Amino acid sequence: MPSALFDQISTSRLSTGLELLRNTLRPTPHVQLAMKGMDLFAKLEYVNPVGSIKDRPAYWILKRAAERGEICEDTTVIESSSGNFAAALASFTHLVGLRFIPVIDPNISGTYESFLRRICPTVVKVEDRDDTGGFLKTRLQKVKELCATIPNAYWTNQYGNPDAVEAHYELTATEICADFDSLDYVFIAVSTAGTIAGVSRRLKEHYPNIRVIAVDTEGSAIFGGTPRKRHIPGVGSSIVPPLLSQAEIDDVVLISECETVEACRELLTTHGLFVGGSSGTAFAAVKRYAARIPAYKYPTVLFLCADRGTPYLDTVFDPTWASRLE
Ligand SMILES: Cc1ncc(COP(=O)(O)O)c(C=O)c1O
Repeated sequence: MPSALFDQISTSRLSTGLELLRNTLRPTPHVQLAMKGMDLFAKLEYVNPVGSIKDRPAYWILKRAAERGEICEDTTVIESSSGNFAAALASFTHLVGLRFIPVIDPNISGTYESFLRRICPTVVKVEDRDDTGGFLKTRLQKVKELCATIPNAYWTNQYGNPDAVEAHYELTATEICADFDSLDYVFIAVSTAGTIAGVSRRLKEHYPNIRVIAVDTEGSAIFGGTPRKRHIPGVGSSIVPPLLSQAEIDDVVLISECETVEACRELLTTHGLFVGGSSGTAFAAVKRYAARIPAYKYPTVLFLCADRGTPYLDTVFDPTWASRLE
């Protein structure tokens, strides 16, 4: 028997699937936006195969876990996510032949819930709010219960997994370094802090003078505020994410949800970019920050567009929904 064919047949679905994924996750493009006083670029992370920046940690966490022998063909992957990370994990675990149980909450967009229910045999939806008024703590408690009862369960733990940081260090940031000869500012919306931790560390090595601006939403607890009800997923958190301590941050900008809505609309109508809430939040921060940058500097500025606008059609892009925000 020809050895190449034999190798292919004997190689497990897990490792061939991971190999396939590595080839599918191609570098994402960036585009320049017209903006006074700076060269402004947006990196379009929605071009990733499942549609968001979370494809990168989803792939990398599975790859690293497989390399360490922590997951095998009998593993059930479990994760708390109400959006992009669950969608990425659902697709990738399906491809590599693993079971996946997403733990979601009522804030999930209808699009994501339908998607997860189409491809995951089991979806667990928590209904009880935690002491912050959100659902994160309830979801994490449910994940722990499932891990304790399901044989060969593996919790990808997006809030504390150092492989998520490594994913952005190795993939997202490496692409940025290859694309830009110089970079003065990068604006990154934060939730689990995996992106900002990995990207900031790599960019600070490559561009020693770069300023990393963390962007958060009002009502988030990440940078010390009291958590309160928020409505736009993907940015902010009701806890301080453990990965935040690995990030190298120069400044923080807090954006209200109303500003996010306005910025998303401006990106669509003025710049032709149909992007999600965290992209608008980052763009709003760039605009606010621009006033502080001396005109003579004319910096090169980058912000990340983490996902597309489609899942936000009934929220951020719905004027009736938006009019109810304080
Ligand atoms: C749309 C979107 N933007 C930004 C982020 C923030 O990334 P991180 O969790 O790495 O801080 C997320 C995380 O889920 C997201 O879904």
